[in-house]
Amino acid sequence: MSLFLSNSIEMTNKSNLYKNILSDIENVLDYSVPTFTNLGNISALLKSRCNWFWVGFYKVEGDHLILNAFQGPVACVKIRKGKGVCGKSWEENKSIIVKDVNLFEGHIACNEASKSEIVVPMRNKKGIISYILDIDHDRINAFDEEDEKNLSLINNLIVQII
Ligand code: SME
Repeated sequence: MSLFLSNSIEMTNKSNLYKNILSDIENVLDYSVPTFTNLGNISALLKSRCNWFWVGFYKVEGDHLILNAFQGPVACVKIRKGKGVCGKSWEENKSIIVKDVNLFEGHIACNEASKSEIVVPMRNKKGIISYILDIDHDRINAFDEEDEKNLSLINNLIVQII
């Protein structure tokens, strides 16, 4: 494992930023340790590099999502399938970009500082959603399709451990 991580200050655009983030995630992943450890490092890497408000994974357990590895303030620990942005993403089997959390019916506000959000499902080898990657920003309209496309690529790096 190499810990020579690239420096975000030198990144000039989103595409370069994600290219480096994805390569750094690949470098910090260690398949010999528990999944929680790796997801913790991915959350830390994303949060520190992008200066997001909250980054974390919810794990599918029965008909709920349970808070797993994350970085940021205290968050809701249990979300029922279909509830909130995360539960809806799971139920509808797709990523969701929320430009303004106040305009999303049923949004679960874990922290009132959160203003926009992106939720990207992570699928296991069988193609079934086993985790939900959830990211919050403290400003409105922070995420777009380019974020979604790049964050989805994280799934390829962790598919064998989730
Ligand atoms: N806002 C999410 C809940 C999780 S927190 O943002 C960390 C939702 O509506 O599902």
